[in-house]
Amino acid sequence: MEKKYDERNKVNYLDGKSWIRTAINFWEIENIENLEKKMIEFVYKKRVSGEVFSNLTKENKPEDIEYDATIFKVNSIEEIKNATKKIVNSGYNSYHYFVLNNIIENNILLSKYIVDICHLNGLEYRGRIIVYLKNENTYVTLQLFLNRLEEKNFKDIKSIKKYEILYNQKEEHFIYSKSKIDKIGLKHPAPFSYNDIEELCNLENIENSTILDPFLGIGSTIIGTYTKNNYTIGIELNKEYVDLIPERFKLLELTDKTEGRYEIINGDSLKEVKKIKHKVEYVITSPPYCNILKNENKGVRHDNTQTRQGVEFYSNSNEDIGNIDDYDEYIKTMKKLFKDIKTKMSPGGKVYIVISDFTVDKKEKDVHSDVIKFMCEDGFCYNGTSYFIQNQKSIYPFGYPYKIVLNHIFQYVMCFEV
Ligand SMILES: C[S@@+](CC[C@H](N)C(=O)[O-])C[C@H]1O[C@@H](n2cnc3c(N)ncnc32)[C@H](O)[C@@H]1O
Repeated sequence: MEKKYDERNKVNYLDGKSWIRTAINFWEIENIENLEKKMIEFVYKKRVSGEVFSNLTKENKPEDIEYDATIFKVNSIEEIKNATKKIVNSGYNSYHYFVLNNIIENNILLSKYIVDICHLNGLEYRGRIIVYLKNENTYVTLQLFLNRLEEKNFKDIKSIKKYEILYNQKEEHFIYSKSKIDKIGLKHPAPFSYNDIEELCNLENIENSTILDPFLGIGSTIIGTYTKNNYTIGIELNKEYVDLIPERFKLLELTDKTEGRYEIINGDSLKEVKKIKHKVEYVITSPPYCNILKNENKGVRHDNTQTRQGVEFYSNSNEDIGNIDDYDEYIKTMKKLFKDIKTKMSPGGKVYIVISDFTVDKKEKDVHSDVIKFMCEDGFCYNGTSYFIQNQKSIYPFGYPYKIVLNHIFQYVMCFEV
């Protein structure tokens, strides 16, 4: 039977193809002026307001009118508060973009503050878009919210906590993923590309060091790091993956080359990290994404034929972090693990966490900010984020034309220093 929608839910007047091109969380454009054009193409509906871009502000609407979309450039808590007040006064089912040059200002984690204040006011977080400005080799982030409020009642925001974090920004890179995954790699539901890890090691000068990967999976970190004379300690819970690693090395003709360059521990990281005797200089890892592989749509990775390969999720074990259903519990568990990891690291050591944002129960999570928050709470210094851009990923017109649901086509590579 054909679904009936409330006409008011129709959020966009783009055709399907344009929708697909824009509803992704990585945009690459020449400069900030082109962003203006793109925003008009993407969000332009009947009544647009905003404070950033000249073409969008022409109409000069009075304060109390309902808007379908707004775009706010925010660089301080004060600007975020003011923008949120206006959003609450906007139209039902309207979309709102916070444009940030930097997710951190005066050591306050603005990206998280925005999500918290908007949630308090009944707005729905719909995701973050990274806009890479090629000519300037820099980027801005757009945080996107949906207003489903019928009532216009801005809530007191005094109770919102400002997260002060340790921040020392180093160089950030955009690495275009060369996702070539071999036959054995495909037996794992979510391996990262070892070429990307190799590139990261080159850019960050990771060499002659001891590296830990507490979620080793099918051994990609070893493959991506061994050429620079590194030694990798890998922990993996699932014995099936551990057993496949020597086979994978054989297939890739790496058995001799990697000899003596790694050790693999089959067990639960939460227990095994405590037993590590080496001093660790680097951590490079991609954790499970809460329980997303168990979602109805079966996760995110597809091959050319659009079907998942091999097993669908990691294991049925209670110790498997990929089996934690509750997002807050997942974040707490990760926090505990990285706190233990820190005790094994040399001063100046660095942690690279490779993760994308994801949805839990169809709600977009600001995973990136939550990771920065818990790492800094435990005394790590945040050094900025690089990005693995996965342009080869299949994209879909999720939600068209009723709801913007972003395709996630990059992974954050967040860097923290001990
Ligand atoms: C995203 S995958 C890592 C994939 C890896 N980067 C690769 O390329 O093969 C996460 C891995 O964490 C493992 N895992 C889940 N819970 C764990 C735990 N408590 N201790 C150790 N490994 C765990 C899963 O079995 C899975 O292989």
